[in-house]
Amino acid sequence: MSTNFAIALMVYGETNSGRDPLSEEKYKDLAAAFISAGFLTKGVIYNDELGESLYAELLDFDAILVWVNPIEQGRNRKKLDSLLTKLAETGCIVSAHPETILKIGTKEVLFKTKSMGWAGEVDLYASFEDFENRFPASLKKYGSTVLKQYRGNGGNGVFKIINNKSGSGVRVFHAKNPSDSKDISWNKFFEEFRVYFNDGGSLIQQEWNNNYKNGMVRCYLSGNKVAGFGYQEINALYEASSDNGTIHLPPSTRYYFTEDCGLFQDLKMQMENVWIPQLQGSQCVNDEMLPVIWDADFFINNFNSPSAKEKYSLCEINVSSVSPFPPSAISFIVKEVEYRISKGHR
Ligand SMILES: Nc1ncnc2c1ncn2[C@@H]1O[C@H](COP(=O)(O)OP(=O)(O)OP(=O)(O)O)[C@@H](O)[C@H]1O
Ligand SMILES: [Mg+2]
Repeated sequence: MSTNFAIALMVYGETNSGRDPLSEEKYKDLAAAFISAGFLTKGVIYNDELGESLYAELLDFDAILVWVNPIEQGRNRKKLDSLLTKLAETGCIVSAHPETILKIGTKEVLFKTKSMGWAGEVDLYASFEDFENRFPASLKKYGSTVLKQYRGNGGNGVFKIINNKSGSGVRVFHAKNPSDSKDISWNKFFEEFRVYFNDGGSLIQQEWNNNYKNGMVRCYLSGNKVAGFGYQEINALYEASSDNGTIHLPPSTRYYFTEDCGLFQDLKMQMENVWIPQLQGSQCVNDEMLPVIWDADFFINNFNSPSAKEKYSLCEINVSSVSPFPPSAISFIVKEVEYRISKGHR
């Protein structure tokens, strides 16, 4: 079968790294599925040095699927997002579209969708002054809480904060490396957290979810459909008791399940019938602008709750670089891309 459609699978890589996503474990089955569906499929490497020089080459593709993290090798996605925006303006399908990332793919979405009640108590500090003024009272009220930088991944800039025992400062656990917790004074704390307000950044505060011991379920989505699930029992910030007191365990393997897995049908229904439409409505994201692969990560508050709304709490949404994904997601992605291209966006 031949569609005559050309697609690029774009990943981050150094110019001479020889990286080719088409042969990499994470993408090879997806690439094979596109090829067998008749797509002309190519792997493309992106880095900021190559940047704009890729524009002419990328114009040849009907769709570009991108896997580049919000923070990659210490760099942000500014240049890449401006390149992708220009390509999308020519009618090329770009996923995830930078506009969609800004609408639903930063930690700010937790605050913007507060009224959906799916992410617990959430607050946002838009400026450093606001943070300095209001955060101490908020921490006093909750005892422990979570701060997340505006845009990040891999636990980078995600912190559990608790009042330290003496009351003179705070104890900080970084999700990127929670064993390295530290007690610091309020002055030092503010000095260190000021950086998150650079470049128009903000800090998002989310209530500490003490049900993390139930594990987390990642709901994978393609457009507006659930395409599979992942379950991870031990996550960042997981605390366990040992002879030496409290320790942090390394995250465990995430196991994958299809969209039909009986364990998570309540979440599938809730997402497809309630939460995705509400998210799209409130953030003005139509079906075609939803990423072809994205995920929403949930805490399981109470296994036995008959109400999905009470059973699950949103931890965050990922849209920039969702991989690996469950094998079941592959056919969803291929169909979604085929549908969007044949609908004639170009
Ligand atoms: N409110 C919370 N309560 C308890 N633990 C939390 C909370 N928020 C985040 N965590 C823990 O910190 C981890 C990282 O947080 P989050 O997923 O928001 O950040 P991320 O950097 O985008 O991570 P990822 O790379 O997995 O997308 C979560 O997987 C979870 O283990
Ligand atoms: Mg994330």
